Formats: sequence, C-alpha cells, structure tokens
Amino acid sequence: MKKLLSLALIVLTTCFQARSDEGMWIPLFLGEFNEAQMQAMGMKITADDIYSVNHSSLKDAIVIFGGGCTGEVVSDQGLLLTNHHCGFRSIQKHSSIEHDYLTNGFWAKDKSEELTNPGLTVTFLIRMEEVTAIVLDSINTDMTEAERRMLINRHIKSIKEEATKDTHYKAVVKPFFLGNRYFLFVNEIFEDVRLVGAPPSNIGKFGGDTDNWMWPRHTGDFSIFRIYADKDNNPAKYSEDNVPYQPKKHLSISLDGINEGDFTFIFGYPGSTEEYIPSYAVDMTVNTINPIRISLRGKRLGVIKKYMNDSPEIRIQYAAKQAGISNGWKKWIGENRGIKRLHGIEKKEAFEKEFQKWSSLTENQKYNSLLSAFKETYDELYPLKKNLYYVVEGGLGIELIKYANSFSSLVNISNSKDVSQDKLDKTVKRLKKSTSSYFKDYQPEVDKEVFAVLFKTYYENVDKDEVPEEIQKQITKYKENFILFADEVFKKSMFASKDKIIDFLDNYKASQYKKIKKDPAYKIASAFIKQYKTNYYTKIAKLNSKLDSLMRIYMKAQMEMQPNKLFYPDANFTLRIAYGNVMGYNPADAVTYNYFTTLEGIMEKEDPDIYDYVVEDKLKDLYNNKDYGIYGNNGKMQVCFIANNHTTGGNSGSPVLDANGNLIGINFDRCWEGTMSDIMYDPDQSRNIMLDIRYCLFIIDKFAGAGHLVDEMTIVKSE
Ligand code: ARG
Ligand code: GLU
Repeated sequence: MKKLLSLALIVLTTCFQARSDEGMWIPLFLGEFNEAQMQAMGMKITADDIYSVNHSSLKDAIVIFGGGCTGEVVSDQGLLLTNHHCGFRSIQKHSSIEHDYLTNGFWAKDKSEELTNPGLTVTFLIRMEEVTAIVLDSINTDMTEAERRMLINRHIKSIKEEATKDTHYKAVVKPFFLGNRYFLFVNEIFEDVRLVGAPPSNIGKFGGDTDNWMWPRHTGDFSIFRIYADKDNNPAKYSEDNVPYQPKKHLSISLDGINEGDFTFIFGYPGSTEEYIPSYAVDMTVNTINPIRISLRGKRLGVIKKYMNDSPEIRIQYAAKQAGISNGWKKWIGENRGIKRLHGIEKKEAFEKEFQKWSSLTENQKYNSLLSAFKETYDELYPLKKNLYYVVEGGLGIELIKYANSFSSLVNISNSKDVSQDKLDKTVKRLKKSTSSYFKDYQPEVDKEVFAVLFKTYYENVDKDEVPEEIQKQITKYKENFILFADEVFKKSMFASKDKIIDFLDNYKASQYKKIKKDPAYKIASAFIKQYKTNYYTKIAKLNSKLDSLMRIYMKAQMEMQPNKLFYPDANFTLRIAYGNVMGYNPADAVTYNYFTTLEGIMEKEDPDIYDYVVEDKLKDLYNNKDYGIYGNNGKMQVCFIANNHTTGGNSGSPVLDANGNLIGINFDRCWEGTMSDIMYDPDQSRNIMLDIRYCLFIIDKFAGAGHLVDEMTIVKSE
C-alpha cells in the first residue's frame, strides 16, 4: 500500500512539474491566452472574475502599496494587508527607544489609534487598455531614436489627458515587450493610509537577513493598514474628518489550507525582469556588475551589523537601511549562483547561434547584424558600468558623501548671478527638513568605519586613472591610510555633525556657499558627481538609448522567429497574474524541500541570544498549549509555503489566491536557488515564498488579541 501511494505521489509530482509555469501575464488577456490552462490546472473561476471593467472583480481589491509593493483590501472598511517589510519604513518612522514598534509590534485598539503616514499612498487600477496603435501612429523606421521618442511622448501625453478628463484619476502609459506595444493604466490614488497593526520584528522579520531569500522560512511577514477617504468615498489628504474607505471589492479569506499541487495565483505588481536580453547583457550583470555590488555591500554590511548588534539605538536607526542593503546583496549572490548553475550565458549563446542562422535567411536579413551590434555596444558599456558601480556602491555608499552632495543645489542657487531669495529660502527649508530626518537615523561612528572600508576597496579595485584628481590628492595626503583619511574627514567636515549643520542653515546667507565648497566631504562628493556626469552618465545614456532600440528590435525578432511560443512581457510594475501549483523542490543533490513550514520550525530555530531568532513567551505559550483556534491544522500551525508562481520584487505583499479566488496567503519572497528567474526562470528551482494566511490571522487574533480585525474580514471555510 505504502509503495503504491509513493508511486502515485511520484506520478502526481512529475505531472505537476510538467505543468509548472513561467510568466507574468496581463490581466486583460487572461481570457484569450491563459484561462483554459489555468482551469486545466485547477482554477474554478473565470478570467472575468479576476479582471473586468464591467463589474467588480478581484482586481478592484489589489493595490500598489507605496512606491514598490503590492497590497490587498480585506474588509469593507478599507482594511489592507501587505508585507511587514513593505510597511517597515512606516513602522520604523513611528519607532523610537520609548515606542519601539519595530521590536514590540504595534496594534491600534480602535480606529482612533491608527497612525498616519504622510507620503504613503495606495493606488487602485480603474482600468487598463492597449494603446499601441495610437502611441505608434506615424512612427516609421526612418526616424531617429530621438524623433521617435518625441513623437511617442507627445502621443502618450494626449492619451493621458483624454483618459483622465473631468476625473480625479491619474494615468500612466507604459511600454510592453520592450517598446513594441503600449498600455494605458488609469489609476485612483489614495493619500490617507494609516498603520493599523504590525507584529513584532521577531515575527514579522523572523530569521532576519539570515533567512531572507531562503527556504525553509518561518517569517510572519505582514502588516496591516487602512485606507481613508473623504465623506464621498473619494481620495483626500489626511484629515480628521476622513472616514474608512468603502472598496468596490474586498477579498474573502479561506481557512481551508494548502495541499501539495493546489492551484494558486499571485495578483500584483512585479517590478522588473529581463528575460529576453542577449548573452552579453547577462555576462555583464553576472561577471561585472554583480561582483562589484556584492563585494562593496558585503563590506558595508559587515560594519553596520557589528554596530547594530552592540547597540539597541543603532539597531533601530539602521534597521531599514541595513535591510535594504542586505536584500540586494543577497539576491545578487543567489542570482549569480543560479545563472552559473543553469549555464545561463551558454544557453543564451546557444539560442543566439540559432538566431544567427535564422536571421541570415533572406527574409530575415534586417535582423542579421543585431547580435554584432549588441556585442559592440556591450563592449563599450562594460568598463563604463564597472566604473559607475564603484562610484555608486562605493563613494556614494558612504552616507556622509551622499548627504553632503544633497547640498549641491544650495551651492548652485547661492552661486548664481542674481540669487533668488525665494529659491534660497525654499532650499534651506527643504534641507532643514531632510537634515532632521537624516540625523534621526545616523551615527557618524558607523559611517566613519564604512567610509574607511569602502574607500579602501574602491581604491584597490578601480582603474587608477578613474580616481578623480581631488580624491587622489586626499588619498595621497593620508598615505593611503584610509582609517586616518576617514578620521580627518569626519573631524573636519561639518556634514558629520547635526549641530554644526543646523547652526549653519539657521544663519545661512548666500555668500556662505564657499564654506560648503571647501568642506572635505563636499569636495569628495562633488568630485565623484562631476566624474559621474562627465565621464559616465552621458556615455552610458547614449549607449542605453542604442540598446533600447536594439532590444526593441531583438524582441520583435525573437517573437517572429518563434511564432508558436506564447510570450509574456517583462515585468514593468504593472498589474500581472502569475499562476502555478504548490510544490517543494530539490535545491541540491540528495536534498528535498517540503512545500510548507510550521511553528515547530520556529521553535527549532529559536535562539534567545540572537535578535532575529527570539521567540516571545506569548508565542511559546500558544505553541505549548497548541492553542491555534480555527487556524490550526491537525494540531499544527502552518507558517509559510512555496509554489512555482513566477514572481519578482514588487510582488511583495501580493495576495496569493486559490482556485476559487479566495485569499490563502501573502507573497513575500523567493527561494535563493531560483532568484535568477528575473533573467532566466527555472521550473525546477524557481519558487515563490508565501505567508500562510492562517498564521497571519493566528498572530492577529491569538497572539496580539486583535480579533476585532479578523471580525472585519470575510472568512470562508468549507466543511
Ligand atoms: N527578500 C524579500 C524582498 O525582496 C524581503 C526583503 C525584506 N527582508 C529582509 N530581511 N531584508 O523584498
Ligand atoms: N521581497 C520582494 C519584494 O519586496 C519579493 C521577492 C521577490 O523578489 O520575488 O517585492
């Protein structure tokens, strides 16, 4: 019997493997291209239930959260779920040693306690529409790229005006398939978004950066917000008179749980992918750009982590910065390993061989010189990018240098012939504001050490003739002793001291710009920026514009060459659907990963001495008493799960929906072995990581005692 069962399992799993699906699809075309496959994979609803402009559909519950995440509406009072890491900055901004919401979590007892977040927005899609014909109207192949762009921009402008006439909507038009097609998005943006709840970091960020991008994962990565509107349910700036927004649609939540092979789909805003680039581009990322970013960020993180471990104050101050630096760093390591393991460059080269053959056919001659044009362009681009990344991740990775550089506009305004007092006052005001938030999260001692470490690495690796004269002068002066160099700059620069800067700004007169220009940190910053502008930026922009045009043509050619292949457009931070099945994977020889994790795993990872692995007594009590309420499953609390949905950055916070379109999880990450899926998806290794909605509700209800929030939601459970 056992044998039979495992045989059945093998058949089942291979069958799921065969179905595993790559792609981030346009909701508008689901009916045409994907519905049949989705239903064959287990979906019980229709394309029209997911996206429709004629009646309310699931899309009406999906939002862009802030500038780079997704969120979903889960109650008729505008309650919104997203990731903890998406709400992280908001939570951090409200946090201090006295009110450490990062460490302790935050739960508004009622609506009056919800916290406002100036600048945070939530964007609903009203409708989307293909506008290729209008955008590309009278564009022809004789035009220069600049002429083409000008005409396109003019068309886009009038499409946007037309689409938003007499409404408060905002429109965007974005290129798809690398400029071969265009789509219009009409959006409604809400500006009063309040923080309702966030678990403590040892739940919301459990495992921290050690577990980030990894499976098995046990992170309760969610936070809760609420959208407010004016009395007419329209977007409005924050006001005490605003009321909870009544959405057209909110998602129902299923507590039925997750089984291997279950159909799932992710509905959200994937940011950017590069699936159709030539081998040269992959080579540049893997062998030039990623190694520089990985090495410089690794060094920076080493310093920051040390200070964060030693001081609770620094831990709060640097939490969000450190998470951001580390997130990219680890992703690129995974990406490089993945591309190497997949032989990604060789695969692209093999395709290019075929392409070359195809393009030498008489009817495809117009594509015949594409690959050599790519090669030429990338040969020019490599060294420029190398130098650029040393400046961006090296010099500008030092907070002092970046901050000093933010004073360049003040220098320019003060230094102009007839100084406009109004402009000057505005700039000083803006700088005062940014100065106070900058120093809230700043420690010169951390930055000083980062300065020494980054400068040393920069100097040892960048081509010597690329070091700006001013910087070389200072390095020589300190005899390449970077610790001494850092000491001196931090001692002499006013930008290292809040008091000095505030005093300076309080009494600022235009003639004082000379003091800024003499400052050692400012001198370094402007040397870097000048070099960036004159030596790299213009050249890179020119090559990029050439590449844009080559890529557009190459994309078109790839589609012509493979007429039977169904292409999906690269991610471009527009609403997409990715679908697949719940499944584990084999990350390495002889290793098999199960598709879900449980609270048992949290207890296994527990370490009271490590901030990211602390388990609170309250959670332990619930665990010991198996007090899981309606959220448990046979005495177990399931925490996270994985599937082969094709996702990327921006999909964080995206709802994970089941065959009936009910919410079963929140997407928050990908498995490390599969992070090269932004360049090359691997059905065997690419898995997205999701929070099980039952764990999320368990934390809200049982751990935080905020059951009133669950009461607001629509819960469905069969049986
Ligand atoms: N890797 C996830 C993403 O790309 C989560 C990042 C936040 N978490 C962290 N530990 N830094 O956004
Ligand atoms: N954590 C990512 C985000 O913030 C999603 C993970 C990914 O890149 O797939 O969007």
